[in-house]
Amino acid sequence: ITENSVEVFSHVYPRDDMTNVTAKILSKVDYQLHNRPHHPLWLIKERIKDHFYRSYIGRTGNPLFSVHDNLSPVVTVEQNFDSLLIPPDHPSRKKGDNYYLNRTHMLRAHTSAHQKELVRSGLDRFLLAGDVYRRDEIDSNHYPVFHQMEGVRLFSNHELFARVENGEELSLFESGGRRTPQKQETHTLEAVKLVEFDLKQALTRLMRHLFGEDLEIRWVDCYFPFTHPSFEMEVRFQGDWLEVLGCGVMEQELVRSAGAGNKMGWAFGLGLERLAMVLFGIPDIRLFWSEDERFLKQFRLSDIYQPVDFQPLSKYPPLFNDISFWLPAEGYTVNDFYDLVRSIGGDLVEKVTLVDKFTHPK
Ligand code: PHE
Repeated sequence: ITENSVEVFSHVYPRDDMTNVTAKILSKVDYQLHNRPHHPLWLIKERIKDHFYRSYIGRTGNPLFSVHDNLSPVVTVEQNFDSLLIPPDHPSRKKGDNYYLNRTHMLRAHTSAHQKELVRSGLDRFLLAGDVYRRDEIDSNHYPVFHQMEGVRLFSNHELFARVENGEELSLFESGGRRTPQKQETHTLEAVKLVEFDLKQALTRLMRHLFGEDLEIRWVDCYFPFTHPSFEMEVRFQGDWLEVLGCGVMEQELVRSAGAGNKMGWAFGLGLERLAMVLFGIPDIRLFWSEDERFLKQFRLSDIYQPVDFQPLSKYPPLFNDISFWLPAEGYTVNDFYDLVRSIGGDLVEKVTLVDKFTHPK
């Protein structure tokens, strides 16, 4: 960061009246926590990938969803907002809520910023993981950088109706239709109901895969400018309903402008921290940025489905005591010392090791 410009990934962005990104926030773009093997966010990403790879396979055994986790978090304002039909005066564009490099570029506020370019590149099914940036208070549940996973699936007329009786007579689109709470003007009701069913089924299966079959789920109607109808999924956790993702039937104008106007589709976006906190019992979002071995080592599993038994750790760094003492001439075993430590220090003492012993030859 200089007086006149901001540099990210060796690219220089001239400052203007929208620039508000700080050096501290910019330093986070290199971390890519979701791409660090064994980091809890990586672990959740891998479990989600694995579920999609195994659940959706093509005729030759190939996975149908491609996974993208290396797209730059620096996007254009057009990608983050305009491409998603978010109006120019929409409150989500506020300088107070986003990190702008300048008037044209920003740190993405959601992974939806890449929907249009990936659909345009010809993909029908994809997952996309990445770091996202929003100005926010800092507390145990909020941090200005977090991670999302986006999923998109498009259907052709044939794909959607192939499984339905007399499906050849049905179609995705109608003209002269009306927008209602159930559907967009261009979609037929039968198409929307099938896409909505597929979306909810895919996400229910994903969450049960992650959390187990007993997970309680509920759907709440909501609003996004780039999907209609739109829903939030909430899961029951420790007696409360917790929002874990937003999703819906993609706005046809978005799909059309991305060059796939003969298809319709669904999209979802979920927060990886939220899922990891619930799944592993991680109490504070700031822990994801910890370099402390006591945190990281708990996720170093030999396979991604090995259960994690997360042990909360102190805010304070570990303390090592190096103790030497004289032994009585006889009647002592090392376990006498370990018992003494346990009686006095209890579970505060993580580990006791004998590092040396010495008997004077005389
Ligand atoms: N991008 C939305 C968010 O960050 C989530 C979303 C993704 C909603 C895809 C609908 C479809 O809140």
